[in-house]
Amino acid sequence: MKLIYSIAFFFSLTTVAVFSQNKAFIPGMEWKDTDGAHINAHGGGVVFRDGIYYWYGEYKTAGRGGNTALQGVSCYSSKDLYNWKNEGIVLKVENNPNSEITKGCIIERPKVVFNKKTGQYVMWFHLELKNQGYSAARAAVAVSDNPKGPFKYIKSFRPNKGVWPMNLDNKFNSVVIRAKRLESWTPEWLTAVKNGMLVRSDLERGQMSRDMTVYVDDDNHAYLIHSSEDNLTLHISELTDDYLDFTEKWARMEPAGHNEAPAVFKKNGIYYMITSGCTGWDPNAARSFSSKSIWGPWESLGNPCVGKEAELTFHSQSTYVLPVQGKKDQFIFMADRWKPSNPIDGTYVWLPIQFDKGKLILKWFDKWDLDFYNN
Ligand code: DGJ
Repeated sequence: MKLIYSIAFFFSLTTVAVFSQNKAFIPGMEWKDTDGAHINAHGGGVVFRDGIYYWYGEYKTAGRGGNTALQGVSCYSSKDLYNWKNEGIVLKVENNPNSEITKGCIIERPKVVFNKKTGQYVMWFHLELKNQGYSAARAAVAVSDNPKGPFKYIKSFRPNKGVWPMNLDNKFNSVVIRAKRLESWTPEWLTAVKNGMLVRSDLERGQMSRDMTVYVDDDNHAYLIHSSEDNLTLHISELTDDYLDFTEKWARMEPAGHNEAPAVFKKNGIYYMITSGCTGWDPNAARSFSSKSIWGPWESLGNPCVGKEAELTFHSQSTYVLPVQGKKDQFIFMADRWKPSNPIDGTYVWLPIQFDKGKLILKWFDKWDLDFYNN
């Protein structure tokens, strides 16, 4: 009898654990999936299809090496944004040492978009080849017919090989060549960077692509927004209609501005971008920008964070802006609170984006839910 009671007690506990529902966002805290495990989808992005949100991210592992891709890109699904079901690893790293995505490479900031023309889910991510640090600086692409994968790896490369950006005047070429001998970080060197010194030196090899996001516009044109020129300048590169390559139309943004972690969205015809500065895994103050065109000019709107620890983006770094489906002007700022000593423990900071006289405002909340937008 005692045994029967113990078994019944055990099952009641399991049921509570499995079915306990999240009813709010609790930024920075452990976020359990529907199996009760902490969500493992860092530097991620979200796609919405047929009533379901799919959250893709870097699958981190324990220990200092956990930031390299030992498994691949994970996916979680949800209907309400609070409760997420683990759909497994949808892009797996390979055991083949000759593969570009061999186990131990670096895969960061995966973003998936749906291509209406081809019916394919297209994943772009930042790829660093195994044992080469961050020097490869490549954009990589994979596809799937199903949001839950498996994604098939296609290729990686540096964008815009041999193509000059549309918003940089060629007349600076002489300045650029002379500036090559300048000492880094001097005002003259920064001016030379602004004038395209690094664009020119990477022209043959292709432009660097590290931190990145993909933005699909209302007209279905898509863009890769990537930290380039050694993270000094953001590049906005248009994707081809199938989203698998580049059209050669590209522009620079904030030359020598040192921006990482771009996240883009649009409200009432205005494009907004949130970025961070460049301090590795440590947090810094976020930046925000707006523009009437994806190609710029982008106007700086300053740090969108207000209140305590605003100068550290509440100990997090931007990764994506998620539009709440079917709701006008409801946008969620998604950010990572990295834990480089044990990356698997990294948490997520999701906050509602507020607007004030054309500026973006991010305020800290210990706990909030989607009713926030109705108040
Ligand atoms: C900051 C970037 O935003 C991350 O994605 C990652 O590349 C780290 N730097 C590596 O230090």
